[in-house]
Amino acid sequence: MSQGFVLWFTGLSGSGKSTVADLVVPELRERGVKIEVLDGDVVRTNLSKGLGFSKEGRDTNILRVGFVANLLARNGLAACCACISPYTEIRDTVRRQVEGDGGTFIEIFMDAPLDDCIQRDPKGLYKKALAGEIKQFTGIDDPYEPPENPEIVLKTHDAPPEESARQVLEYLEKESLIPAA
Ligand code: ADX
Repeated sequence: MSQGFVLWFTGLSGSGKSTVADLVVPELRERGVKIEVLDGDVVRTNLSKGLGFSKEGRDTNILRVGFVANLLARNGLAACCACISPYTEIRDTVRRQVEGDGGTFIEIFMDAPLDDCIQRDPKGLYKKALAGEIKQFTGIDDPYEPPENPEIVLKTHDAPPEESARQVLEYLEKESLIPAA
């Protein structure tokens, strides 16, 4: 059985988590990796439906996503998680669970400046948050704690998403988690 791993994208809304994940995942499937995607926006319509964005709501969401990712990884599969996951402590909790069960946890920090995300505002949510129509919005009136030792840092404002995806694939090759192309 191949070694299971979890790709954990973390970063502000609009920092490119889903965009890069959507490029990486098909390429991994091409290379024979069995991988499932857990995207924050999707998870919140099913697994975490009804949860809010308080610290408690977010932590519960991340623990659920981490739980599912770990189930996959410990069976030799891969999981690609793309949630803001703003709190270091809960990301580290998930890491410990995955690593404790023999999986590999790869934290990928989307290092995009807030101003850049506000300008892109792909879902129009920053505009609403800045107008006070959405409360507890990450980066506006809710915290984001950047990872201290992420395995991969992607400067998504400086490079096209294809370049970021390539960096992730290169890392996985280097760590022998996937075969070279
Ligand atoms: S997390 O904090 O619990 O990890 P998650 O990634 O699942 O967040 O969901 C974030 C998505 O929910 C955002 O991309 C955005 O589309 C939407 N959203 C709605 N309200 C908020 C909010 N208050 N803060 C951040 N994102 C929000």
